[in-house]
Amino acid sequence: MSQYDYIKDIAKFGLENDQEGLLTVLNDLIEYSKKSKKINFAIQLQSILKEAIHQKQSKSLTKVGSDTYYNRIEEREVGELILEKLTSDYSFENIVVEKTVKKQLDYFLMEHQSAELLRKFDLPISNKVLLHGESGCGKTLASYVIAGELKKMMVVVNLGAIVSSKLGETSKNLAKIFKKAALEECIIFIDEFDSLGKVRDYNQDHGEMKRVVNTILQLFDYLPQDSIVIAATNQKEMVDEALLRRFDLSIEFALPDTEKIKELVKLTLKNGQFKFDKPNSVNLIIKFAQGLSYYSIQKTLVTAIKRSLFDQVGKAENIKSTISTSVWRELIEEEKSALGKH
Ligand SMILES: Nc1ncnc2c1ncn2[C@@H]1O[C@H](COP(=O)(O)OP(=O)(O)OP(=O)(O)O)[C@@H](O)[C@H]1O
Ligand SMILES: [Mg+2]
Repeated sequence: MSQYDYIKDIAKFGLENDQEGLLTVLNDLIEYSKKSKKINFAIQLQSILKEAIHQKQSKSLTKVGSDTYYNRIEEREVGELILEKLTSDYSFENIVVEKTVKKQLDYFLMEHQSAELLRKFDLPISNKVLLHGESGCGKTLASYVIAGELKKMMVVVNLGAIVSSKLGETSKNLAKIFKKAALEECIIFIDEFDSLGKVRDYNQDHGEMKRVVNTILQLFDYLPQDSIVIAATNQKEMVDEALLRRFDLSIEFALPDTEKIKELVKLTLKNGQFKFDKPNSVNLIIKFAQGLSYYSIQKTLVTAIKRSLFDQVGKAENIKSTISTSVWRELIEEEKSALGKH
């Protein structure tokens, strides 16, 4: 679906007063926006939706001063800071990673899958991992894989959004999120972990930022062994040294080399459902695509697949799942020049 299709559906359900339909299409649009990297729009839409749902719920009577009243306020405050709470069906099959990264991730998972063994020998369990490296190379995806492999719920905390909206309340808010996550045995995924460093750069409230860093240090130091924190950043150099030291594990996600691009292509072609019209030129294109992120390469390939399908509409009776190699090459060229990579 395109953005326009969503708008049409929203208009239709809105005018028909079909609340359920409206909620479904709004949620779909949020997912779609996240996938197409319109994260800010997705966050805004999500908070509009949450606010509306809260208002609806609070119409049922609650006694002011009662526990439910206070819980509700707290729930709302924490809810606003959490971008989403999710369960994941992702596994290692959905991600292409270097051998070294796979090994690091495997061992990290084992810390939790074999926690009993470690406890028996009185060994500490690693539970703080930093994912860093180029944008679009699988940090967020890897967090979904960890959640999926461990079959745990995950709360996604956007540190950038918290810091930019209410720096003064960040410490308190983070403490609340950690408490809630520990109670519910969720993984905490802190995205844009470099945002605190940026505050320093923008020359905003220096003292407040230090307080937030100290809060995170404390939350990390007192993190229960069975809780897990995953932080991600594409600007590791912006992160405070003291914070970096707290992580048990730091994993780098780099741009793909030709071997990894090949694996990504295979994954994207759904292991053979789609085929190239000129298989012999594919290797050359893969070489040409070097320097781009997994995200960019996958995006151009998916677009090439769609265009190859569209180009047959009205011409052929049986639409073939063949990809035009030259269309893909052109798209890669466009992507490279758009990103200033030659
Ligand atoms: N290593 C990978 N293997 C397979 N697909 C990938 C990989 N990296 C990225 N992708 C594709 O690109 C999309 C975006 O990647 P992801 O959100 O994980 O990037 P990121 O490293 O978190 O980037 P950013 O720093 O911008 O947040 C993924 O949903 C996936 O479709
Ligand atoms: Mg990410």
